[in-house]
Amino acid sequence: MKEQIESIRAELEALAAGEGPAASSSRELYELKMEYLGKTGKISALSKGMRDVSPEERPAVGSMVGELRKRAEELFEQWERELKKKELSAKIAREKIDVTMPARFAETGSVHPVSLVRQELIDIFAGMGFDVFEGPEIEKDYYNFQALNIPADHPARDMQDTFFITGEYLLRSQTSSGQIRVMENKKPPIKVLSPGRVYRSDSDATHSPMFHQMEGLVVDRGITLNDLKGMLDEFARRMFSSNTKTRLRPSYFPFTEPSVEVDLSCSNCGGKGCRICKGTGWIEVLGAGMVNRRVLENCNIDPDEFTGFAFGIGLERIAMIKYGIGDIRLMFENDVRFLKQFKG
Ligand code: DAH
Repeated sequence: MKEQIESIRAELEALAAGEGPAASSSRELYELKMEYLGKTGKISALSKGMRDVSPEERPAVGSMVGELRKRAEELFEQWERELKKKELSAKIAREKIDVTMPARFAETGSVHPVSLVRQELIDIFAGMGFDVFEGPEIEKDYYNFQALNIPADHPARDMQDTFFITGEYLLRSQTSSGQIRVMENKKPPIKVLSPGRVYRSDSDATHSPMFHQMEGLVVDRGITLNDLKGMLDEFARRMFSSNTKTRLRPSYFPFTEPSVEVDLSCSNCGGKGCRICKGTGWIEVLGAGMVNRRVLENCNIDPDEFTGFAFGIGLERIAMIKYGIGDIRLMFENDVRFLKQFKG
């Protein structure tokens, strides 16, 4: 019996002589503890064995067992403390927060460049007193062509490769149709913008079968080409930069007379000539002109009493110039790497 006690004590002291707690996890340590102090453990077995010890020896052996139990409890308590400390520092090391790591932000959407341009244009023109009118995308030939002085056999129809739905209905090829719809319903003074989608059977780096335009129309007594020029100057300065200049070149549209093509001084090189303006210093941005007498007559507005100007802006074209976008198709592919660049 005494030998048994000594050998168990020696086992424990050997464990105590090692470095750190006698086990590497709380679970292992618990199992080890049970091996000695559990109900069926080695030390409990000694207590049970007391029955077989002779009455004379019992007090001495009993106190040896008691001491052994005390020592064992002491050791396990110490190991448990050490192990807890070790596990805590391991946990702290594992869960250390690296404050220099880049934060993970929630992805937010961005406004499409065409929407940005549309909103900016509306802001600029609304500031000059324009209302907004949105006409239908499925339009009658009458509003898209005939009333705009483009009769059925007119060669100008070839300028726009139109998607016809029936002989009478088509996908509007220009927002100029909005002019007629407005003038049919309202008498001068008129100052209106008509933004929206338009469609043409055309597709390459600068043409898309669906794109956006914004039509502008001003009709009143005494409106002249000078008013158009002044308004375009203001638009160019607000949309691009305060030193942007405009230039009117003679052109032809059936619904305006005279008609002009409007160029802006290149905002990239300031007019000196660069890759973007193809060395000319000017960039063509829109078509405009004085509303043709026939168009006013078609809407029952007396052309001897009222005059007006109109203009049509391609929104993708403005976006391409403003943001330096080389291919119109980028705007319809919805690649987030492209779209993300227009946040705020
Ligand atoms: N509708 C023309 C186009 O799509 C643009 C245009 C030119 C509109 C002259 C106008 C204008 O109102 O006066 O090419």
